Amino acid sequence: MYRTNTCGELQLANIEQTVTLAGWVQKTRKMGGMTFVDLRDRYGITQLVFNQDVDADLCEKANKLGREFVIQVTGTVKERSNKNPNIPTGKIEIIVSEMTILNAAVTPPFTIEDDTDGGDDLRMKYRYLDLRRTNVRANLELRHKMTIEVRRYLDEQHFMEVETPVLISSTPEGARDFIVPSRMNPGQFYALPQSPQTFKQLLMVSGFDRYFQIVKCFRDEDLRADRQPEFTQIDCEMSFVEQEDILNTFEGLSKHLFKSLRGIEITKPFERITWQDAMKYYGSDKPDIRFGMKFVELIDILKGHGFPVFDGAAYIGGICAEGAASYTRKQLDALTEFVKRPQIGAKGLVYARVEADGNVKSSVDKFYTQETLQEMKAAFNAQPGDLILILSGEDAMKTRKQLNELRLEVGSQLGLRDKNKFSCLWVVDFPLFEWSEEDQRFYAMHHPFTSPKPEDIHLLDTDPGAVRANAYDMVINGVEVGGGSIRIYDSELQNKMFRLLGFTEERAQEQFGFLMNAFKYGAPPHGGIAYGLDRMVSLFAGLDTIRDCIAFPKNNSGRDVMIDAPSYVDPEQLNELHLVINTEE
Ligand code: AMO
Repeated sequence: MYRTNTCGELQLANIEQTVTLAGWVQKTRKMGGMTFVDLRDRYGITQLVFNQDVDADLCEKANKLGREFVIQVTGTVKERSNKNPNIPTGKIEIIVSEMTILNAAVTPPFTIEDDTDGGDDLRMKYRYLDLRRTNVRANLELRHKMTIEVRRYLDEQHFMEVETPVLISSTPEGARDFIVPSRMNPGQFYALPQSPQTFKQLLMVSGFDRYFQIVKCFRDEDLRADRQPEFTQIDCEMSFVEQEDILNTFEGLSKHLFKSLRGIEITKPFERITWQDAMKYYGSDKPDIRFGMKFVELIDILKGHGFPVFDGAAYIGGICAEGAASYTRKQLDALTEFVKRPQIGAKGLVYARVEADGNVKSSVDKFYTQETLQEMKAAFNAQPGDLILILSGEDAMKTRKQLNELRLEVGSQLGLRDKNKFSCLWVVDFPLFEWSEEDQRFYAMHHPFTSPKPEDIHLLDTDPGAVRANAYDMVINGVEVGGGSIRIYDSELQNKMFRLLGFTEERAQEQFGFLMNAFKYGAPPHGGIAYGLDRMVSLFAGLDTIRDCIAFPKNNSGRDVMIDAPSYVDPEQLNELHLVINTEE
């Protein structure tokens, strides 16, 4: 037996016990005739004491321990005179009588401490060392607990976990596929699933009624803080349900996770907003509703007063930042620079302060009378001390998106986006289609299996852009943590969807014939949702990027720098796969 206890459990109750511990040397300190060693394992840190006067040889051996050596010690648990309230084992220490060095370690490339000196790249290259750090490990522990609680809740609700294949053919979720050449079928490729969408629908046709899977999905898309090329979904599907049933079931799952993992009891139903209103009031389909600052449209008040920028605008909108009239000129200039950054692309920013006497002082005063400015103030219900920030543009949607960025930035600056406060929201009634200017065609906003709202079906032929879908997203603190829809379960309507999406009959048949065929054999009405597990964990842990809750993530170029993937393969392997690399590119 290597150990009797872990490094995180010994307490005053264990005093005078003889124990054996094993772990890594976090650090050693020499003080007079004593050597102190912090011994670490997954469970915590325990202080070891070596006394020169008691056993000089053993103490000498302890003095030679390097960081991250793996050791085993036996000793007696004693009460510490100098207690450390910051760690659970801080009241005791082990007076060591025996020590075995199980393995020496070379000096690690960065310190294995919460506040490490290692940069991002270095930590990723040595991710196995990075994972020894308590805070990184805590994120993975939370992830583990979340999957346990998800399984517990869904099992209680009669969901059944079924594994679906990883080597499949393309599923259209809007990103590019990762493809895998088939050795046995020259010139043919598998695709890695962007989600198990079609399989879970087929499981409904099979009568499984309630399915879930905690499943890896693969999408070849540009990476961001909340996107990885391989990520994990909590993927779910239910039969004989309407949208309301799904929203209730999964609101329940989220509430269960908040309660079991964060001790937060959410009693009220989640707020709901239509996609249309989300865009109108927040310029985003995933609004952060931890704070207000809803957009107010000002075109009727501010257009036509001789200010050329506003007079030429199709949209003028603003937000009111409570109590921010004290923003200095420098802060306002910085905000102007912020919205003018190419990623945001606004041309400028107009601001107006509501002064103590109620008068409004704006950056465009020469074009507006106090009366008009008061009218604007009333539209915001602004109070003395508030700051109004206004953007305008020729394209309403673009300008709203810019105003969204500004709202989020100001919200952050004013401390309104507290990571320990959670605001949950359903965004519902998404449009069924999204028009692409570039390709001059419609794409499915969610995916092609999403059903139109029955009352909008008549618009499919005449005005597809106006058709609303039975689709919903769960948004927490401005993060889209999940999305789903009620599906089409009628092969005729599904065929029509494919046609509207520009699929020829042959291509639709080739790609989805299996699904449409299956629908002919008695498909139940069904719908579902998939959560992004990585996003849920990082939200619960208050992380800025989902990478921090993934054991071995990819970097922003989609590389695993630790194992150096992707990598070249031998010509022989290419040969076997019937592949030739085009070296001209
Ligand atoms: P969707 O494409 O909305 O829906 O994905 C569901 C959820 O998965 C998460 N997600 C990601 N997380 C990390 N990295 C990524 N690259 C990434 N892409 C998506 C998000 C998102 O809300 N089959 C449908 C679900 C359904 O209709 O039931 C689907 O995959 O949190």
